[in-house]
Amino acid sequence: MSANIIDGKQIAENVRNNVASAVEKRKAEGLRVPGLAVVLVGNDPASEVYVRNKKMDCEKAGFRSFSYDLKADTTQEQLLKLVDELNEKPEVDGILVQLPLPEHLDANLILERIKPHKDVDGFHPYNLGRLAQRLPALRPCTPKGIITLLESTGEKIRGMNATIVGASNIVGRPMAMELLLAGCTVTVTHRFTQDLPGTLANADIVVVAVGKPGLVKGEWIKEGAIVIDVGINRLENGKLVGDVDYDIAAERAGWITPVPGGVGPMTRAALLENTLQAAENHDI
Ligand code: GUN
Repeated sequence: MSANIIDGKQIAENVRNNVASAVEKRKAEGLRVPGLAVVLVGNDPASEVYVRNKKMDCEKAGFRSFSYDLKADTTQEQLLKLVDELNEKPEVDGILVQLPLPEHLDANLILERIKPHKDVDGFHPYNLGRLAQRLPALRPCTPKGIITLLESTGEKIRGMNATIVGASNIVGRPMAMELLLAGCTVTVTHRFTQDLPGTLANADIVVVAVGKPGLVKGEWIKEGAIVIDVGINRLENGKLVGDVDYDIAAERAGWITPVPGGVGPMTRAALLENTLQAAENHDI
């Protein structure tokens, strides 16, 4: 068997086009275009690329983008002051503070300072709590984008066994809540899990988000499973790979996401959806 490829690039483009049409409609109705503020502290090269792409996406979708590039030695007080200012700015609908932050800053404290209705990353405990309770919320972008990818397969997700590898705040934990809401029986594995291959043998859906190339062997994938690889790792030869041994996994899986071109574009597209949602809620 050879897996169907889940084309995240194409699906993300459809999402972006829908968002851009909604922005045009808002303009025609005399409503404000959504505004996203992106805050980058320091000069982590990967973060610089992510932030540049997010700003470019905003402009293409017809949003306003406000960018704040702060020095690596920015103090906690200075960053909190900026968040407070952005919270009060009416033209800013969404605030994104790029992670990771330099070590001297307390990321939890800063993320909690963002007003929940401007928390387009969906990382605030208010939004995560609402997600856990099945209430409308701003939802973390990567898990939200992955649900769109799963829906794109046309497979009936409800009732499937889903295993998540990695329990991070950004992906693994909110992914567990999303899959539970979608009616899956969810297992979350992590560094202390004793029998990862045994757990995966029963998984109809596998979501891997660890950041270690080759962590999941292709042979561990159940025949016909849907494999979502969130990892983006650059090998010494310059090649970008995920966390799953792609070639063997693709022989066994029913569906699989490529790296690059799978989950990455969907995270960015979900951020646009969240910013539009924040602007729509802001109008009320
Ligand atoms: N760093 C890696 N992924 C993300 C993300 O989705 N949002 C933010 N703010 N920082 C990140």
